[in-house]
Amino acid sequence: MPLLTMKQILDDAIAKNYGVGAFNINNMEQTLAIMSAADRTESPVILQASRGARKYAGPVMIYGLVQAAMKLYPKVPVALHLDHGNNFETCKQSMDDGWTSVMMDGSLMEDGKTPSTFEYNVDVTSRVVAEGHKRGITVEGEIGTLGGIEDGHGADRVKLADPDQAVEFAHKTGVDALALAFGTSHGAFKFKAKPVLAYDIVQAVNKKMPGLAIVSHGSSSVPPELVAEINKYGGKMPGAMGVPLEDIVRSIDFGVRKINIDTDLRLAATATIRKVFVESPEKFDIRDYLRPAMEAMSHVVETRMIAFRTAGKASNFTKVISLEEMAKVYARK
Ligand code: G3H
Ligand code: 13P
Ligand code: ZN
Repeated sequence: MPLLTMKQILDDAIAKNYGVGAFNINNMEQTLAIMSAADRTESPVILQASRGARKYAGPVMIYGLVQAAMKLYPKVPVALHLDHGNNFETCKQSMDDGWTSVMMDGSLMEDGKTPSTFEYNVDVTSRVVAEGHKRGITVEGEIGTLGGIEDGHGADRVKLADPDQAVEFAHKTGVDALALAFGTSHGAFKFKAKPVLAYDIVQAVNKKMPGLAIVSHGSSSVPPELVAEINKYGGKMPGAMGVPLEDIVRSIDFGVRKINIDTDLRLAATATIRKVFVESPEKFDIRDYLRPAMEAMSHVVETRMIAFRTAGKASNFTKVISLEEMAKVYARK
């Protein structure tokens, strides 16, 4: 099966009321961990690579890893997505590199830190949508500012999305998917106390635009047992806290379709590797710690696919809608 567009996957999730995990990849271990979990649970999946990932492994390697994993797991429907594109050029380059979906995060300026204006966001995102849709490629935008990496101050200073502005943004830009700031936050230190997610924002946007795929960034649950394991084996992550898994699952019923997870896999790998290093200090074959790390990451992904009701949905994708067909669909709009 060739790469799907993210829109094809998310349209099915909208129609059948389930969520799809978008997991970040940087290397072979993450790619295999995610794809094998998708295969075991018969799930569609979104593999996403950030600018940092593209710099770390290189776009050719990322694309090659995805192609190889698709050969190993031919029944898994996969979309390859650029996570947090910071300008038009990065998005266009990813399209040239074979990505079937891109995110233009115009909620921030090009530096990825400074909050932008609504007008700037509409302008840059519209240009990416025009370029993407011409090629049949899916485009995700973002409105509001998440906590964590995006404002550098954690969740206390989150600038939540305004539902009316979000709807106006989606109409003006024509995005296929929209990341909404509704209380989630990036990274391992999301909150100081149990978060209260603003489901009403998701609900309001979903009611006005039921065909728009709502995206939840910063959706790692930062499992306490993984944090405890990391701390037990010499790590230092006091106070790490995520979004409870049941809160993310709840958001699916309000209209969230794409659920971004990176941190939980980082934690699973780090906990496992630290344990091997402490318990078996004589080991130095990288396979001795990367294999269990891969298994731990795969287990996390499997649990998310089951919780988000993605499991069992791979068989919904009997026909791949090509980029050419998608481009024609967009041209008719
Ligand atoms: O939201 C950001 C993702 O976790 C990717 O992180 O930019 O360090 O690759 P990264
Ligand atoms: P986490 O840091 O919660 O895993 O979020 C990842 C993310 O939103 C990637 O875009
Ligand atoms: Zn994100």
